[in-house]
Amino acid sequence: MTYATIARNHLSALLARMPKAELHIHIEGSLEPELIFALAAKNGITLSYPSVEALRAAYAFTDLQSFLDLYYAGASVLIEEDDFYRMAMAYFARAHADHIVHAELFFDPQTHTERGVPMGAVIQGLARACADAKAHWGISASLILCFLRHLSEASAFDTLEAALPYRAHFIGVGLDSGERGNPPEKFARVFAKCRALGLRIVAHAGEEGPPAYIESALDVLHVERIDHGVRCSEDPVLVQRLADSRMPLTVCPLSNVKLCVFNTMQEHNLATLLHAGLCITLNSDDPAYFGGYLLSNFEAVFAALPELSGQDAWQLARNSIDASFAPEADKVLWRTTLDHVFDQALATS
Ligand code: ADE
Ligand code: ZN
Repeated sequence: MTYATIARNHLSALLARMPKAELHIHIEGSLEPELIFALAAKNGITLSYPSVEALRAAYAFTDLQSFLDLYYAGASVLIEEDDFYRMAMAYFARAHADHIVHAELFFDPQTHTERGVPMGAVIQGLARACADAKAHWGISASLILCFLRHLSEASAFDTLEAALPYRAHFIGVGLDSGERGNPPEKFARVFAKCRALGLRIVAHAGEEGPPAYIESALDVLHVERIDHGVRCSEDPVLVQRLADSRMPLTVCPLSNVKLCVFNTMQEHNLATLLHAGLCITLNSDDPAYFGGYLLSNFEAVFAALPELSGQDAWQLARNSIDASFAPEADKVLWRTTLDHVFDQALATS
């Protein structure tokens, strides 16, 4: 079946209605300024911005680090278990509105434990929200613990140990924060231990870092997905390898433009990579900071890239389901719903 003939003016309704999975969302990056101010007031924290508007006005980034500085400052208002719960529930409400059926949430425990917040407060607050997302909206959700790559491997080992009493609440580990100068090799031993524990493995690579970091994420960390990965296009042999292996890339278009990885959405390479056979998925990364949640990312790329068709919309949604760590039985159901939505659109197009 091909959906390439679906008229472009029918596409925006389809992008909204199609079931989709989100595989690259830092839950701390979903903290909207209003919630930052509410939590700061509750927890007696003074922010360095006088108002919600002033904080939002500061969201003009020149690169990844300029964003991370604000992102870690924003996360400092999270103190109690319920703060983590409220943050995640606010995201799930948005996810439901975008027809997200499955979400894998990154969280950065070191950002919180370094400030004295107990690991249990972080993980149990998020896990309670995941359970309630299922109960309230039928959203399937799981957690991926990320190590901060600007910190040491010893700190990552300590973090893993502190998290292991809550092992039942997270399915995998990732690697995030400032990429330049912090190659995957720095974390080879801690990721080997995580693999031995049966955790799923992902890592940010090739966002700002070179294609060689994507290769070492594959060959040293043995990742099952690459987060971002867009700089692979600088190495045609690597592009072919990613296509042949159908290694998923969790691409974050609005993030890439906000952090100046691409100057404009029109210059984004995701359509080229998708048409070269790579397993591209779309994601929001840090939606509160980058101007939109998952559906806004879909809308932005379809508006900017005229070469994307209805078939591509189906493929992107299908890739997100295939590349997820959800149980196979769930995937079968979501694929059936996805095909049904597109078959109906084709019949009326
Ligand atoms: N942490 C939150 N967002 C990130 C990104 N886009 N890259 C690396 N680390 C992050
Ligand atoms: Zn990210």
